[in-house]
Amino acid sequence: MEIIIQPTPESATDIAARIIARLLREKPDAVLGLATGSTPLLLYKKLIAMNLDWSRVTTFNLDEYIGLPREHPQSYHSFMWENLFQHVNLTKENIHIPDGNANDIPRFCSEYEAQIKAAGGIDLQVLGIGTDGHIGFNEPTSSLASRTRIKTLTRQTCKDNARFFGSEEAVPKHVITMGIGTIMEARQNLLLAFGTNKAQAVAEAVEGPITSINPASILQMHPVVKVCLDDPAANDLQRADYYRWVYANKPAWQTL
Ligand code: PGA
Repeated sequence: MEIIIQPTPESATDIAARIIARLLREKPDAVLGLATGSTPLLLYKKLIAMNLDWSRVTTFNLDEYIGLPREHPQSYHSFMWENLFQHVNLTKENIHIPDGNANDIPRFCSEYEAQIKAAGGIDLQVLGIGTDGHIGFNEPTSSLASRTRIKTLTRQTCKDNARFFGSEEAVPKHVITMGIGTIMEARQNLLLAFGTNKAQAVAEAVEGPITSINPASILQMHPVVKVCLDDPAANDLQRADYYRWVYANKPAWQTL
C-alpha cells in the first residue's frame, strides 16, 4: 500500500486525478471502477476540467440502492450522470451501474460480474471508505471473497447517508454492491478518504489486522493500492511520519 497524506482534500484529490488521467492517456480503452458519495465529488470535478478523452473508456460502478427509482435524485445513477457522465464524452453503452430495480437481482449480479470479465477486468477501481470500514457497500463481516450481490446496510451507514435523504428512515436498507473479491481483482485500487470521521476506519484498514470487521483491511493483500488522505483522515495512523517520508523521497522514476 502506498499511503499519500496531503494537507487538504484538494491536494490529495489532485494526485488521484493525475493517476487516473495518466491511465486514460496511456490506455484510452481503460476500464474504470467508479464510486459515489461525497469523497469522489472533487475528483470528478477535476477529471471533467482535464478534458480527457473518455470515448473508449468503460466504467463499472461499485453499487446502487435497491428499489430506488433510477431517476431519484439520490440514486447512484442520478449521482453519476449529474457529477460525471453528462460532462464527459463517455459512450453510453460503456457505462455500467448496478440496476437496483432488476427483476431477478441474483441473476443481474452474476451478469454484472460477467460484464466486468468480458470488458477485460477493471484497470483501476476508485474507492471511498465508510466510517465502519466498508468498501463499496461491503459492510463489516462481508466475506472477503464475496462477489457482486445484495447487502443490507448497517445502521451506521444508514445514519451516515441520512444527510442525503433527509432522515435515516428514508435511506434504503438494501443495496447491490460489487463484492470484496470483485474489488480485489481490479489491477489497481485507489482509495480516497477525507476528514477526522474517517480516521479510525483508515487506521484500522492500513495498520490493523486483516479482518472482515474492517473490509477495507483486505486491501493490504492487494499488490497495487494507493490511499490518498487529507491530514485529518490520517490522524490515527501510527506510522504517518514514515508514509510522509516515503512520499517525500519517492525516486524520480516512480512519479505519481
Ligand atoms: P462518503 O462515503 O464518500 O460519502 O463519505 C464513502 C463510503 O461510504 O464509501
